Order: sequence, then C-alpha cells, then structure tokens
Amino acid sequence: NKNILQDTFGRDHTYLRISLIERCNLRCSYCMPEEGVQLSPKSHLMTYEEIYNIAKTFVDHGVTKIRLTGGEPLIRKDIPIILEKLASLPVTLSITSNAVIIDKFIGVLKANNVNSINVSLDSLDREKFKHITRRDQFETVYNNIMLLVSEGFNVKLNAVLMKGFNDNEIIDFINLTKGLPISIRFIEFMPFDGNKWDMRKMVSYKEIMNYVNKAFPKNHIERLQDAPNDTSKNYKIKNYSGSFAIISSVTNPFCDSCNRLRLTANGQLKNCLFSSTESDLLTTLRQGKSIEPIIQKAVQAKFKMRGGMDTLEKLQDPKLHNNNRSMISIGG
Ligand code: GTP
Ligand code: 5AD
Ligand code: SF4
Repeated sequence: NKNILQDTFGRDHTYLRISLIERCNLRCSYCMPEEGVQLSPKSHLMTYEEIYNIAKTFVDHGVTKIRLTGGEPLIRKDIPIILEKLASLPVTLSITSNAVIIDKFIGVLKANNVNSINVSLDSLDREKFKHITRRDQFETVYNNIMLLVSEGFNVKLNAVLMKGFNDNEIIDFINLTKGLPISIRFIEFMPFDGNKWDMRKMVSYKEIMNYVNKAFPKNHIERLQDAPNDTSKNYKIKNYSGSFAIISSVTNPFCDSCNRLRLTANGQLKNCLFSSTESDLLTTLRQGKSIEPIIQKAVQAKFKMRGGMDTLEKLQDPKLHNNNRSMISIGG
C-alpha cells in the first residue's frame, strides 16, 4: 500500500497522538514552567470537526491507534463530541489524563469504547503530589484511579521519576500492583522547553532496576514480553496482579520501532516528540487544500532518533532541546 506513512528508515506510522488543549487543571513542574506557557488564540485551535477531518486523513493512510492528550484532554468542553466522532473511525481510541475529573466521564468513555486509560501519578504522598503538581488533588486522583479499575478499565500509571524526590517510592508503587491489575510505568525525565531539565535529576533505567533488584529476590522479577511498538520495558513481580515497566527515552530509547506522529492542539504535525520543526496542517485544511502532501513530507523528514538528538551530548545541549515546545503543549 503506497498510501502508508512509512519514513526513510522503514518505520510505518500507525499511531497518532492528538493534543486537544494546551491548558491543564494541574501544573506539573516537569511539564510546564511555573508562569505557564503562551497559549494559542482560540481561533488557532482545532475545532472538533477539524480534529475529525485531520484524523480521518491519517486513518485513510494506515493509522489504527489514536491517543488523546493535552494539557488535560478532559477539560475540553466538547470532549464528548470529540470522542464520539473519533470512535466512528476504525481505530483503537485511548486517552492520557491526570484523572482529576475523570469520574464525570466514565459513561462517555465506555460508550465510545475507550477501554484503556493512562493516568499520570508521580507520587503516593499527598504533600509530594502537591509539590510536583502545584495543586492539592492527590486524594481525588487516587480515588479516581480506584474507580477506573473497579469499572474495568485497563489502567496504566505514568510516574516521571526525579532524583531525591520520588525515587524512594519506586517499591511502594510496585507494591500497589500486588493487589491491583494495573501497570505502573516509571519514566525517565526528559528535556523540554522550560522544564529545567538536568541529566542529574533523571533516574535512569539502570538505577530503577537497582532499586527493584534490592527489594525483590531475583527469581521473583519476571521480564515480560513487550508488545510491538511499546514505549516500555515490561516486568512483573511473581504472583502480583499487575506489572511495572520502564520508559527509558533518555538512556535506552525505542526510536528504532517508533510508529508515532503527533498533532498539536493548534493543528501542527510533529514527526517526533523531540522535533523542533512542525508542519501546519490546520492552515492548509482551512484553505480547503489537501493535507496529504504535507503529512507525507513531514514523515519523510523524520530523523532516526529523538528528532536528531541522537547522542546524550546533543540531548543535553539546551540550544537543541529548548527549540521544542513545553511538554504541556506537545501532549507527551
Ligand atoms: P500506550 O498506548 O499505553 O503504549 O501509551 P504511551 O506510552 O504511548 O503513552 P503515554 O501518553 O502514556 O506516554 C507515556 C510516556 O511515554 C510519556 O512520558 C511520553 O512522553 C512517552 N512517550 C510516548 N510516546 C513517545 C515517543 O514517541 N517517544 C518518546 N521518546 N517518548 C514517548
Ligand atoms: N519527561 C518525561 N515524561 C513526561 N511527561 C510529561 N512531561 C515529561 C517529561 N519532561 C509524561 C507524563 C504524562 C505523559 C503523557 O508524559 O507522565 O503522563
Ligand atoms: Fe519516535 Fe522521536 Fe519518540 Fe524516538 S523520540 S520514539 S523517533 S517520537
């Protein structure tokens, strides 16, 4: 099929991440600067019809999975319509949320076959949660995670680890999976515009496994088979209901098997999480022209690894990683 979105390294792009909104009801420090980010004027944001039209073009070119992100996707007022429109396409629809208000959306998520929810949760300690998110919502989020599990959703938790802050909670997080059928994913802290990233703040895959190896006997730590195109290296503790995983985008990236493209809330296509160039799909769509050639061109321009920051030296160069947006307006 010559319509498929294949790049020059032979990678097929079947997964589209759509950011619905640049705002959030939390203010995590690794995701946005304290003062916030410059918001696009409302007229520059995609309407639900435009989201649908753009998504449809991607589906016509082989995309089979769509994940909605933000900011916080659920604070978008027209989220029920967006879900309904996208659910009419032949795709697996998922969402990444902070879960603060997700209890209001259980029915709408189920009605649109959203079965899998990824929830950001960086600490199990109320004070630490408040410190990292700059909002006092730990209990709400925790209760909503329990609600999602009891409602039968497939739940993955995302914890961005920061040295000396929450790395002492790795084992507490894993112990949550003893009785809960969830996956807890530890994420290496990545550099984006305005998040004061420093390699020394990051907790690496290796360091995470050191904690795990100290806490559990060797024959209780099982390496699971990863799904194709998985972001994470998956493990489980013997006899535990759930599993844990590591997303090592810094020390051990999965770019070789990358199948992802990203659409920002203001309609810009990013061919990589770390790409500093964007392609303006929304303006072209509004001019009534075909967006297909722009998409193909962007896919062809994709770098092999991390938007061209293929070494740790390059990743650590602020001139390179500060050319990107803040995470809040990329969507993760
Ligand atoms: P699944 O569909 O469950 O596999 O979700 P996911 O891991 O693709 O998405 P999620 O939104 O939960 O993101 C988890 C972490 O993986 C976040 O820190 C993302 O920034 C990171 N991530 C997601 N996609 C990519 C990617 O293409 N490249 C890199 N480097 N990191 C990514
Ligand atoms: N580094 C790593 N992961 C991040 N996320 C947000 N900012 C960063 C960062 N700087 C994660 C959050 C969220 C997901 C979409 O991206 O955990 O769950
Ligand atoms: Fe794909 Fe870029 Fe992420 Fe690597 S860093 S997996 S190329 S989006």
